[in-house]
Amino acid sequence: MRPQDIIRKKRDREQLLPAEINFFVDGVTHGQIADYQTSALLMAIYLNGMNEAEQQSLTEAMLQSGSILDFSGIAKPKVDKHSTGGVGDKTSLVIAPLVAACGVCVPMISGRGLGHTGGTLDKLESIPGYRVSLSASEFQNVLEQVGYAMAGQTAELAPADKKMYALRDATATVEAIPLIVASIISKKGAAGLEAMVIDVKVGSGAFMREEERARTLAQALVKTGNSCGIRTRALLTDMNQPLGCAVGNSIEVKECIEILRGEFAPAAQPVFDLSLELSAQMLVLAHVDDSLDEARQRLQRALESGEALERFRQNVAAQGGDPRVCDDPRGVLPLVSESFIVESRRPGYITAVETSEIGHAIAALGGGRVRIDDKIDATVGYISEIKIGDQVTAGQTLGMVYSRDESRARETVSRIQAAYQVGDEFKRDLPTLVKEVVE
Ligand code: URA
Repeated sequence: MRPQDIIRKKRDREQLLPAEINFFVDGVTHGQIADYQTSALLMAIYLNGMNEAEQQSLTEAMLQSGSILDFSGIAKPKVDKHSTGGVGDKTSLVIAPLVAACGVCVPMISGRGLGHTGGTLDKLESIPGYRVSLSASEFQNVLEQVGYAMAGQTAELAPADKKMYALRDATATVEAIPLIVASIISKKGAAGLEAMVIDVKVGSGAFMREEERARTLAQALVKTGNSCGIRTRALLTDMNQPLGCAVGNSIEVKECIEILRGEFAPAAQPVFDLSLELSAQMLVLAHVDDSLDEARQRLQRALESGEALERFRQNVAAQGGDPRVCDDPRGVLPLVSESFIVESRRPGYITAVETSEIGHAIAALGGGRVRIDDKIDATVGYISEIKIGDQVTAGQTLGMVYSRDESRARETVSRIQAAYQVGDEFKRDLPTLVKEVVE
């Protein structure tokens, strides 16, 4: 078999056989297939898609590319949640400690920023000392000790996804349903999960802008997850504006700690609400609670008692980070005071936000990667408390850009200002946070 023959077949819209997919994924994993050939196949898949059988084979091949963790020694249900990616989408940092505090084991294999969307690993690394590259045994130790662990794909865990994820980001091939499905399910399957909840984002800051495509993705994720032996449920959730107030690595961690401490700004309420909803779904899938209502009450107790914050603290310490971040996020996180105001150009109502543009603007300012090997600047970001439907005056502050680089920050301010649509009236309903549950 030769890589170019497989690329040609997909280019010409022919169906790939399981053996061809296995050959390719194996070659990617072991460095025998060049990045330019992998990129070419990714683009062919992006353009021509994959049928259900191909999608299943790709997922299984990627899942088998590394070791599959075995946590059968931990006598708790193993459940996780994953998001398809959004802007200001930081719920993992709240959900993992919260659900762990309710007696569930959460082995979370996360990703880095992809395209305009932020990544849990990049956010966590803004905590001084925090390590996301854990060996399988370190991962298991943290999991046993704390109830949850957060790590990235490694040479041992979902290595094919590690390679392909980075190449998709750099080759504009992220928004392909079979690639998203294989990427997510292979990572989650490698973590030895029993059940998972997937947050499928829809809207101007999501990879799926239209509800119909998001639903198709959700159905594919649920079907493939279940057929890999993981009880899977997906929620279609709103991504027509940044989730909560903060977009950027350190400031998103700060917002999550504030939520765990119960001291957050009103505009961060959707982060709290969505975290609670996804967590409740996880507890029901884990068979910890029979109903979502019971699960919500249990979660509220874990938050109010401080147990969830305590888990977060233990996890930070166990993964090498500075646990004082829980008491003094401002003093510990790399934050900058230099800020630049984004003003409304005119009076009226916020009718829409081009959310991906905000994500791209913050990524270009250093908060994300433009090239695979770019270093992230954890200090940069954007904070806004203005939401769709709010009335604003001309010159009113929509939000603040944080950066030490004044000229790049000013460019970011203009990009973000242009991302807001301000109209004379707002007649539509406000976006609903959770639109649908797919099971
Ligand atoms: N999250 C992932 O892990 N993979 C994707 O492809 C998209 C979101």
